Amino acid sequence: MRTASPLFVAAAFVVGLPFAAFAQSASWSDQPIEAAADDPNIAVSYDEDGRYYTEDDIPTFNINDDGAVDWLTFSGFRRYHSECHVCHGPDGEGSTYAPKIKNSAVNMDYYDFVDVVVNGRMNGNSVMPHFGDNANVMCYLDDIYTYLKARGMEAIPRGRPAKKEAKSDMIREAEDACMGS
Ligand code: HEC
Repeated sequence: MRTASPLFVAAAFVVGLPFAAFAQSASWSDQPIEAAADDPNIAVSYDEDGRYYTEDDIPTFNINDDGAVDWLTFSGFRRYHSECHVCHGPDGEGSTYAPKIKNSAVNMDYYDFVDVVVNGRMNGNSVMPHFGDNANVMCYLDDIYTYLKARGMEAIPRGRPAKKEAKSDMIREAEDACMGS
């Protein structure tokens, strides 16, 4: 048995490594923001009637030279503070109860972010509710996402954005269709 024990230790080490790596990468909210403004996941590549996208067609925020934020980012500020801030804290800063999702919006893949909000997530006693059947969240999910992404990049300060672009007809029509009015 004496010869077996170093082997066992080596095996535990090899098995332990990926485990530790996974546990770390699972908490997107705790990871620092390393993306720069020209990161392909952040930078605006094109816009469509007041909605801004990256080169991979992922929604992103836009801030004009005069400081005005795009409509979705402004709307996301309001929607976030009515649906998410009770747990995640004001301005996406996190609370003792729920993670700092302004960082998650930058560090997480967009589709993973959407998946958590639609389907919820449970980690022991830590529960993220599912919002897939809540039109007040689903119809404004990109708004909330781009707002949090702007916060994560510190592209906008805490609090209500002072200046905003006008809401385009296309955004208005999409909202009305989604909310069923
Ligand atoms: C009732 C409290 C509560 C509300 C309301 C809530 N969340 Fe959460 N959320 C949590 C908790 C707790 C977690 C951590 C779950 C875990 O430990 O896996 C979480 C996790 C998340 C994550 C994953 C973060 C990461 O880094 O992995 C995202 C994204 C998220 N929430 C988005 C939202 C959005 C967007 C809203 C508003 C529409 C919202 N949450 C509303 C409690 C809440």
